Amino acid sequence: MADEVIQERVSTGIRGLDEMLKGGFFKGTANVVSGKSGTGKTIFGTQFLMEGVNKGETTMCIITSEESKSLVREMQSSFGWDLDGLVNDGKLVFVDITDPSLRLQKSVEIAPTELIKSFKKLIESKLEEVKPDRVFIDSVEAMFLAIESNYKLRTLIDDVFGVFRKREVTALVTVGSMFGLDEMVEYGADSVIKLGREIIGSNLQRTVYVMKLRGSGTINEVRVLNISDSGMAVLPQSPYLEK
Ligand SMILES: Nc1ncnc2c1ncn2[C@@H]1O[C@H](COP(=O)(O)OP(=O)(O)OP(=O)(O)O)[C@@H](O)[C@H]1O
Ligand SMILES: [Mg+2]
Repeated sequence: MADEVIQERVSTGIRGLDEMLKGGFFKGTANVVSGKSGTGKTIFGTQFLMEGVNKGETTMCIITSEESKSLVREMQSSFGWDLDGLVNDGKLVFVDITDPSLRLQKSVEIAPTELIKSFKKLIESKLEEVKPDRVFIDSVEAMFLAIESNYKLRTLIDDVFGVFRKREVTALVTVGSMFGLDEMVEYGADSVIKLGREIIGSNLQRTVYVMKLRGSGTINEVRVLNISDSGMAVLPQSPYLEK
């Protein structure tokens, strides 16, 4: 290996996952978590923010498809996490895209490209204002699904991800597996974590693997992903082997 500058790693906050990434995400990169509905994307992202808070960082959560109060309620009832308390302490800032004051309403009247450009501007101004260390966007499909040209989509994804790289902010972005949009978003990402579920015998097993991590080796195994009242963790076992 050359004497390159050692890039700083950022802990994901998911027990067992940093090991699969050989140390975590790289600081100042755009990281994607993708998977079908209900595979744990929102929990993953929220736990990633909680890790930042525990390390004394400032965090930001950009919500595009539901209101932030729904997320606050879900995380309270699932894990007892007090996101409202973190907001009051200035450790977490929500950017609610559905908030009318942002005038970023998804509407058939607004051209999709224009919507994403305004979305990007909004992110830039919020990053300037709040100066967060980590950002979670849940999710990007609402913004990107309406773009018909794949070329345009690639360019816009690169534009949005570039905002984080330029400012050394570590971003985590979720995308659902819809109409191949996840694949397009994955191309633009610095890392991709795939969440899934498999039917093994009569059991439903949650699974996780690292699809890519630019600039690093990874553990190339599918592992069991466990969600319990204390949050999400990767178990060091394969979902496909007899226990
Ligand atoms: N305390 C808990 N213990 C075990 N499982 C839990 C707990 N809280 C939530 N879950 C599970 O996590 C699943 C949802 O995770 P999450 O909302 O992160 O998925 P998602 O991928 O974001 O889904 P969507 O695509 O619908 O947004 C729930 O369906 C629920 O079964
Ligand atoms: Mg979700």
